[in-house]
Amino acid sequence: MSVLILGATSSIARAVAEQYAKLGHSLFIAARDAAEAERIASDIAIRFDTIAKSAAFDATAFDTHLDFVDSVESQLGELSVAVVAFGAMGDQGESEGDFAAAKRVIDINYTGAVSLCEALASRFEPRKRGALIGIASVAGDRGRASNYFYGSAKGAFALYLQGLRNRLHKANVTVTTVKLGFVDTRMTFGIETKLPIASPEATAQAIVNAQRRGADTLYYPQFWWGIMGIIKAIPERVFKKLSL
Ligand SMILES: NC(=O)c1ccc[n+]([C@@H]2O[C@H](COP(=O)([O-])OP(=O)(O)OC[C@H]3O[C@@H](n4cnc5c(N)ncnc54)[C@H](OP(=O)(O)O)[C@@H]3O)[C@@H](O)[C@H]2O)c1
Repeated sequence: MSVLILGATSSIARAVAEQYAKLGHSLFIAARDAAEAERIASDIAIRFDTIAKSAAFDATAFDTHLDFVDSVESQLGELSVAVVAFGAMGDQGESEGDFAAAKRVIDINYTGAVSLCEALASRFEPRKRGALIGIASVAGDRGRASNYFYGSAKGAFALYLQGLRNRLHKANVTVTTVKLGFVDTRMTFGIETKLPIASPEATAQAIVNAQRRGADTLYYPQFWWGIMGIIKAIPERVFKKLSL
């Protein structure tokens, strides 16, 4: 089996790549930084004795995505799994004052993610096989003042994945939406929280297990399913007065 990892410099994505390598799958490591992608690929190839190729991609270079997917398949063979792991939190304050900054967050987390999923779906659907994993966020379950550009883009991505799953179900292609809570990565560095923070390795294991059992949605850590259930149930007239 061949697995494409998009956004491989994320420690979660890298741990997912390692899980698949451990299972004996071939990897295509894609990241914005070509040199770093190559370094990660050769490290995985050596440590797990598997094939790992690499290339650069940019989530916002929408016009290149279809050719990119074709080039990956011409190098590695038909893809079985694709992991859309890239994302960017951006700076909420900056985005409020500068729409160009807000648009960057939307373009990476939503438009870019959709563009790549569409390219992958166009190849998986006619073959009637393949699995897509999209990494969304619990931040997408309810809009909050502190991160609503990132949150709305992730929420829209989760909704998109839901529709895509509905479309691809008929083609035997699975779509797994991963809604992550706090994971210890570069993105959350310095964030203070009283809630437990998951490790990238445990998160990756949960993601790979979810894909392999054909899960539709995974909340990880799982207790976020309960937390978001409560948060979503708070009436808007109360919620708008809270500082969450
Ligand atoms: N950590 C958490 O608590 C948490 C919670 C919920 C959801 N998530 C999601 O989990 C995923 C992984 O994030 P992380 O926590 O591991 O953070 P991270 O280390 O910041 O990883 C983000 C990844 O996205 C890539 N990326 C950003 N903009 C890109 C672009 N224009 N084109 C291609 N790649 C781009 C980054 O590449 P560079 O290295 O080149 O910047 C990096 O590989 C993201 O989708 C994130 O939104 C994380």
